[in-house]
Amino acid sequence: MSETTPFDVIVIGAGPGGYVAAIRAAQLGFRVALIEKETTLGGTCLNVGCIPSKALLDSSEWFWHAKESLKSHGIEVGEVQLNLPTMMARKAKVVEELTRGIAGLMKKNGVTVVRGVGRLLGGMRVGVRSTDGSEQELTAAKAILLATGSVPIEIPTAPFDGSVIVSSTEALSFEEVPEHLVVVGAGFIGLELGSVWRRLGAKVTVVEMLPQIVPMMDREVGDALFRSLQRLGFRFEMGAKVLSASAVEGGAVVEIEKSDGTRESIACSKVLVSVGRRPYTDGLGLEAAGVELDERRRVKVDDHYRTTAPGIYAIGDLIAGPMLAHKAEEEGVAWAEILAGQGGHVNYDAIPGVVYTWPEAAYVGLTEEQARERYGDEVRVGKFPFAANGRAKAMGERDGFVKVIAGPRGRLLGVHIFGPRASDLIAEAVVAMEFGGTAEDLARTCHAHPTLPEAVKEAALAAEGRVIHF
Ligand code: NAI
Repeated sequence: MSETTPFDVIVIGAGPGGYVAAIRAAQLGFRVALIEKETTLGGTCLNVGCIPSKALLDSSEWFWHAKESLKSHGIEVGEVQLNLPTMMARKAKVVEELTRGIAGLMKKNGVTVVRGVGRLLGGMRVGVRSTDGSEQELTAAKAILLATGSVPIEIPTAPFDGSVIVSSTEALSFEEVPEHLVVVGAGFIGLELGSVWRRLGAKVTVVEMLPQIVPMMDREVGDALFRSLQRLGFRFEMGAKVLSASAVEGGAVVEIEKSDGTRESIACSKVLVSVGRRPYTDGLGLEAAGVELDERRRVKVDDHYRTTAPGIYAIGDLIAGPMLAHKAEEEGVAWAEILAGQGGHVNYDAIPGVVYTWPEAAYVGLTEEQARERYGDEVRVGKFPFAANGRAKAMGERDGFVKVIAGPRGRLLGVHIFGPRASDLIAEAVVAMEFGGTAEDLARTCHAHPTLPEAVKEAALAAEGRVIHF
């Protein structure tokens, strides 16, 4: 093992949490090493998560619109055909350009990227094993940050086989459109990738153990999303259990027990198991280093991201909270700033969540159910449908609504959107909440006309009891 000059900070894992933390730490004057086991930077999000899925969601949306809605705009295109290899190549190019961009950012910020698998050696030492088997040891003068993210959860009744029973990683790269895709788990991944393959022509059956999809969402939004996916052609088996899934000649068979206790055997071409992700701590040497896990096997940290081992910190999917890239990024910045003696802070009450279906579902803050439980009669809810928004109508996007939830003294408690570009629309609600704003603040802000954000303003007006256009 060769020894190198100490860094101030060693970050393990170059996903959105780790690489952002590395940049911010470097900006603050620390000498930073960033260890990554994969050949490209960016982690799950950039390589096999957020970005490639969004590339395919966009492509499949174009395909769907070309087939289903261009005619209504007076555009005749003849027979629309899918070229899946081109669609996949475009996705790969998007990923490639962005990961190269991250490498450029590391160079620009003077972050030393070390390729290989990092593991804690005790104290402030980190071992890095590279693909050729050689090992080097790095030491950190100030801090080691764990940002190794998460991996898909495998269920014993439907173990991954890498080709037929798969995780999101493989479902982003099917070589042909599956005739019938069974999705286990109606969460973010299942609904997004299910949408992709449904739009491209697959029959999609979703098996979910709970009675509702996206249980963390406001019920009204969850229900609207459910109905819209049914209209897209999804078949849902809610409250159902997967008894087994096994690969057979030409596909797979999934045995389920339905909510009424009856059993069904579903023959399909592929099975996507998307029942959540777990923190990725395998081989990280946590135990030897004295880093403890909580009851859900997440790394225990305090509000300064300190683990139970001195000098070792953790952020992102490894620790409690929603497993979202932007949450990890915020934590990376806050961690670096705290380390530099500044007031780094993450407002966990204002972290948006988005399901990138079409229409999209986006939210921030409390659901109506949570708000009523906490604040009872003091809660005011304002809703505005996109059917009454001029821009949405012009776009041919009438489905959905904005819901603004205000609490004591009109303070914004939550905003929930189901509709076109909800992912972009939610940003102003997040800003308003970050500033401790009220429904009136949103309602009195001038919004350009005709735009989709006017629906947010109108929902805020509705919460104030004075909606104009509905
Ligand atoms: P998820 O936690 O969003 O949803 C998992 C779903 O599977 C839940 O509805 C759960 O009730 C169900 N489930 C669990 N065990 C089951 C079983 N044995 N049979 C049937 N259903 C079962 O997890 P998902 O979709 O795998 O995503 C993983 C993580 O990745 C999430 O935490 C999410 O935050 C993140 N993600 C975020 C995206 C975004 O921000 N748009 C996109 C993709 C992933």
